Amino acid sequence: MAAAPTPLLDVELVRRDFPILERIIHGQPLAYLDSASTAQKPQQMLAAVTRFYSTSNANVHRGVYTLGVESTDAFEGARDAVARLLNARSRREVIFTRNTTEAINLVAKTYGLQHCGPGDIIVSTVLEHHANIVPWQVLAQATGATLRFLDCDDAGVLQLDALDGIAREGNVRIVAVTHQSNTLGVRPPLAQLVAWAHAQDAIVLLDAAQTVPNRPVDVQALGVDFLAFSGHKTLGPTGIGALWGREELLAGLEPFLTGGEMIRSVRLERTAWNTLPWKFEAGTPAFAEAVGLHAAIDYLEGVGLTAIDAHEQAITEYALARLQEVPKLRIIGPTSADLRGGVVSFVLDDVHPHDIAEILDRHAVCVRAGHHCTQPLIERLGLPATVRASFYLYTTTDEIDRLIVGLLDVRRIMGV
Ligand code: ALA
Repeated sequence: MAAAPTPLLDVELVRRDFPILERIIHGQPLAYLDSASTAQKPQQMLAAVTRFYSTSNANVHRGVYTLGVESTDAFEGARDAVARLLNARSRREVIFTRNTTEAINLVAKTYGLQHCGPGDIIVSTVLEHHANIVPWQVLAQATGATLRFLDCDDAGVLQLDALDGIAREGNVRIVAVTHQSNTLGVRPPLAQLVAWAHAQDAIVLLDAAQTVPNRPVDVQALGVDFLAFSGHKTLGPTGIGALWGREELLAGLEPFLTGGEMIRSVRLERTAWNTLPWKFEAGTPAFAEAVGLHAAIDYLEGVGLTAIDAHEQAITEYALARLQEVPKLRIIGPTSADLRGGVVSFVLDDVHPHDIAEILDRHAVCVRAGHHCTQPLIERLGLPATVRASFYLYTTTDEIDRLIVGLLDVRRIMGV
């Protein structure tokens, strides 16, 4: 039987949809290699937001007039799109938040406060973004639970041999892990972690900020209990993200924020909570942003997440090979593209990453330099900072070549 053809993505066609990619900076076309930080936006998404504000803007769940009904339908339609994207069992499992950070805080402040106490263990990893560390530190302090971090090796591969020792220390309640490191691109062995967590009767929260944008993510297949992602990394607007949670877990939780929208009835002495998902959505939601997110999801599904994933893998392989041609450059993390996604961190001799990023900017190449909101990981790796290039559906091999030219210029300027 012939192998199934790799789904293809026409990158030049895709790029025409992104107006910002036409920008010229310092006399050169923009080479945006910072999509792990935030993604650029297709005109279809921008048009959907403008159309919504121009034709249907009204608050949601309030007006009986036509605009209010249209607006509510558009907002709830966005929820259906997220549920479809993640293969959720029900739209009631999708809670809109501002971003991944707020989604993780929601779980820590509801599930965490209700289920953790002295003698309990929360497990996270040294790979995590601050958003998947700090809420658990605060939860541990508030409840007397213990927070344990799985270590990684020098390539960022998690060391799972500590798990059994952790299980002997107490009742493991929560395992909070990233689907893909935003700094190294490495993907933790999620299936093993989920199996271990569930054997301890713990729940798994997955930080999927770096994977929902670029590959099929199916919450039922993954077997996790909560999942967080951000709209702005998913071609959508800022200010909108989502928490997906198993309905039976969400149903048992007290609200996160309180106020309008999340109530069924309010008396001066007592309030009854709304049903799912609105119980967790206090105040006027980011409904126009939700419309934008819906258009972004439609766009991603139109191109095809399998094709986007394949494209990113191909670009990552190309980048890993080309970066290894640069003398004195060290890639931090696995150099094999199948253990990782489209994020590559590196250092170049002892040149400070900020100097590298600044020189690359003169070539109109945008990369992030610093600790990437993962200070414990950077410290664990014994580095002051790294340069990080990250790729997406619009990234071309030509942009990688320009990164390499820029890096050779860094060597020339800095004399390394
Ligand atoms: N999480 C974002 C990044 O990795 C901010 O750059």
